[in-house]
Amino acid sequence: MEYPNPDSKSAQLYSRARQVLPDGNSRTTIALKPYPIYIDRAAGAEVIDVDGNRYLDFNNNYTSLLHGHCFEPVRLAVQQQLTRATACSFTTEAEIELAELLCGRVDSFERIRFCNSGSEAVMNMLKAARAFTGRPKVAKIEGLYHGSYDFAEVSLKNRPEDRDGAVPRSTAYSVGTPESVLNEVIALPINEIEPSLELVERHAASLACIMIDLMPQTMGLVSPSPEYLQALADLARRHDILIAFDEVISFRLGYGGGQGMIGMQPDISSLGKIIGGGFPVGAIAGRSDVMAVFDPGKQPSARLPHGGTFNGNPITMVAGKAAMGAMDPERFDALNSLGGQLRERLQAVFEKLRLPGQVTGGGSLFAIRCHDRPGRHFPDIVMREEEMAFSTTLRDYLISHGIWMGANLIGCLSTASTEAHIDTLCGVLTDGLDRHRDAYPAS
Ligand SMILES: Cc1ncc(COP(=O)(O)O)c(C=O)c1O
Repeated sequence: MEYPNPDSKSAQLYSRARQVLPDGNSRTTIALKPYPIYIDRAAGAEVIDVDGNRYLDFNNNYTSLLHGHCFEPVRLAVQQQLTRATACSFTTEAEIELAELLCGRVDSFERIRFCNSGSEAVMNMLKAARAFTGRPKVAKIEGLYHGSYDFAEVSLKNRPEDRDGAVPRSTAYSVGTPESVLNEVIALPINEIEPSLELVERHAASLACIMIDLMPQTMGLVSPSPEYLQALADLARRHDILIAFDEVISFRLGYGGGQGMIGMQPDISSLGKIIGGGFPVGAIAGRSDVMAVFDPGKQPSARLPHGGTFNGNPITMVAGKAAMGAMDPERFDALNSLGGQLRERLQAVFEKLRLPGQVTGGGSLFAIRCHDRPGRHFPDIVMREEEMAFSTTLRDYLISHGIWMGANLIGCLSTASTEAHIDTLCGVLTDGLDRHRDAYPAS
């Protein structure tokens, strides 16, 4: 197959879709150009599109499928629940079961509350921090993606030049974001301890929380350093500022999530993706006194009322329990060790071809980056224009040769992934880099 192919059924469906959907879809993050690929069916690590092309899926719906597609225990649990109740204005035991499973795995999860997306989880995590502390501002790391809540989007589009000295500007991502939103979000420069501490000190009296992602995708899955995290956490404690981990992606790093891997306990976390077994999900989890903002107790209403027609819906709850229940610490270790093997072998591809590139990530997550700048500070991590252009060329080559890694060359393995799949990816990557060697970005 050749991507793009204007005669494909996918291209035709896209033309039709554009008549009723802006840009032909409902999801900016999958809006592949010149057209997105339309899927017919999927199973395990493989996806088949409407033109009959097969792809090895190294994206797993942006990391949300821990077991690949149509994992049997999830399918069976959902089928059974479909004949019982799908959505109701009552609660179900299924919600308690998933809550017990997750709270049983992570020390900082004393209480948990479900919603329907990672974006909602982040929004409610930030709102909970405000409700608990009575302070209006939140701090986040410059350039990081945390979903579509407008406060969480601040500074997402920043480039290295969007700074005043060492201080990142709080910039709008979506046109129309009110100035007042920008004023309430403090953007911190990743791994730059002194300027970050100075910013937190300056806003401490009005700062509700510092939001941290342990493996941010917009940074090519490069983690904040342990010293940076510790410095922020120490200062936050001194000023009663909450540490809020966005574990929407990083929760797949281990049995106890990213926080279990690094042995650090946040006050509150946001979750999504894998905990729903492939169905729409989000959750906020944390210290019971913080999570009490959702509990009216004897008051007429909670400090943070939180409705949601589909929150804790039984389909997602049983799917999440089946997917997460199929993982124990050993299975996470096995998946992560396959991830380690994959990263090493992909790195070896760059070395063999003598091209400056790097493969970053951790656990079952990996990112291919077509430069060898050290991934520590924002200006080094942000891709340059020619690197983005080459990544697109490479991505199209991978698609044309049956590899799906999503739009941004960030991928993950699932329990359906095998060493043979890794062989295939390494082979196609080698050929693709070699074929387009002349266009490879200069260091
Ligand atoms: C770190 C992080 N937070 C939040 C979100 C938003 O999650 P959702 O797409 O489920 O709204 C994402 C999505 O990729 C994410 O990567």
